[in-house]
Amino acid sequence: MEGSMIVSLINSKGGVGKSTLAVHLTAWWQRQGKRVALVDADTQGSSSTWLREAAPEIPVLRLQSADEILDGVPGLCQEYEHLVVDGPAGLAEISRAILLVTDWAWLPCGPSVLDLRAATEAVRVVLQARQIRQGPPRATLVPNKLQLHHRLSRELLAALGELPVASAGGLSLRQAYADAAGQGALVWELGSRGRVATREMMGVLHGLVGQGA
Ligand SMILES: Nc1ncnc2c1ncn2[C@@H]1O[C@H](COP(=O)(O)OP(=O)(O)O)[C@@H](O)[C@H]1O
Ligand SMILES: [Mg+2]
Repeated sequence: MEGSMIVSLINSKGGVGKSTLAVHLTAWWQRQGKRVALVDADTQGSSSTWLREAAPEIPVLRLQSADEILDGVPGLCQEYEHLVVDGPAGLAEISRAILLVTDWAWLPCGPSVLDLRAATEAVRVVLQARQIRQGPPRATLVPNKLQLHHRLSRELLAALGELPVASAGGLSLRQAYADAAGQGALVWELGSRGRVATREMMGVLHGLVGQGA
């Protein structure tokens, strides 16, 4: 992938995997030698706390209002090769501000009817931002907490396919992801307990970011 890029994690719902993906994407870029920073735009601060524990060398900024995002992100773009913005739950002002500055919105989505409804709302707000900006941001749905032998997960994947933005290969429901969050670690630091999750997470990140800008 060439050039700098801002990837933002957006959804109207909490608990769908925004912070999990934000922290792992940031750390993954850092491992590849990129100058990357995490912007935590959620007042709960879970991804900034998590990443400071897991990888204290990575710069973490907390920008927690629409004004802070709109004023701060353009300058940070000059300073870092890549920015990862972890959004709050909800599609209020902050999320809309993020959509005005981001290159790419990742929309994580869990396997329930409520999750699907939330993702559909997020897509609608992305389309509004595209209309305002006459083009960007690019957007990709990222299914999460999948249990592919369960009907709901298969139905989710089919329903996501109907929405007017691309879908990525998703993450399965795995204890290792929850353990990583609980321990302030990355799945690739969990040793054999995290091996399957590591392969899956790296596959998703590589599949998305490896595709280029
Ligand atoms: N694929 C997964 N399998 C199991 N637990 C997960 C998975 N993805 C996220 N979690 C857990 O679900 C909770 C919510 O995830 P998080 O990334 O914090 O979501 P959000 O930032 O959207 O609120 C956390 O406890 C996290 O560890
Ligand atoms: Mg979060």
